[in-house]
Amino acid sequence: MPGLETPAHAGAMRLQVRGLTVRFGGLAALTDVDLDVADGQVVGLIGPNGAGKTTVFNAVCGLVRPAAGTITVAGRPAARSASGLAPAGVARTLQGLGLFPGLSVLENVEVGALATPGGAPGSSTADRARRALADLDLADRAALPVGALPYPEQKRVALARALVAEPRLLLLDEPAGGLGAADIAELDATVRRVASRGCAVLLVEHHVDFVMGVCDRVVVLDFGRVIADGLPDAVRRDPAVTAAYLGIEVTR
Ligand SMILES: Nc1ncnc2c1ncn2[C@@H]1O[C@H](COP(=O)(O)OP(=O)(O)OP(=O)(O)O)[C@@H](O)[C@H]1O
Ligand SMILES: [Mg+2]
Repeated sequence: MPGLETPAHAGAMRLQVRGLTVRFGGLAALTDVDLDVADGQVVGLIGPNGAGKTTVFNAVCGLVRPAAGTITVAGRPAARSASGLAPAGVARTLQGLGLFPGLSVLENVEVGALATPGGAPGSSTADRARRALADLDLADRAALPVGALPYPEQKRVALARALVAEPRLLLLDEPAGGLGAADIAELDATVRRVASRGCAVLLVEHHVDFVMGVCDRVVVLDFGRVIADGLPDAVRRDPAVTAAYLGIEVTR
């Protein structure tokens, strides 16, 4: 029987992190972090600046080597390098944009399709990229240099570049950063659509209302440690969380 924190629609465990510890020289960036994301589930990872959120992503993606702990994706050890990500069905967006400003919108999205077969048989990376763009209402932007787009559309291109790989685990690092209410509402719908197809989503975000609305569960990091993990409402009311994070947010 699913527990309180595992919604009925959640499927098999996609990402499992146990005892993850990462050090940068003398700095303990992560200490003994546990984290689970099931297929079809949206899990939020929040916490103050420098809490270690992006470092969790980098560890899952094999970009930083843990001092201790295990990370499995669909029961297998996570990729040890970026080249192992796509074959394991993992895609991420970067904090900020991370787009190639000299390339067109289409070329940026094609980059995300190169490492994975995916799509209908015989479809080219350009075909797949066009479909991913159309899914995010960017079909008519394909030929433009990506830098010519307004910021919210560039954020959608970054998302399309991750989604074109048809990931089973999607890591989103501050997808709502710099977006207004209308764009966040669209992003919310997109994240729900992706999860409803069975993709596991781990979402790092500072935008508390968005996180609490879209996520099935929220994990809070503070100074590299998990200080709360539960349903959004419970996490929001948790005094330790308010002190560490939400207290800071509401005074902004
Ligand atoms: N490659 C690195 N080398 C050394 N220190 C690092 C490295 N990456 C991150 N850190 C440090 O580890 C800590 C956690 O950083 P991280 O980027 O994971 O935080 P974050 O929660 O994503 O913060 P933000 O909300 O500002 O993005 C910080 O103190 C950061 O300075
Ligand atoms: Mg970060």
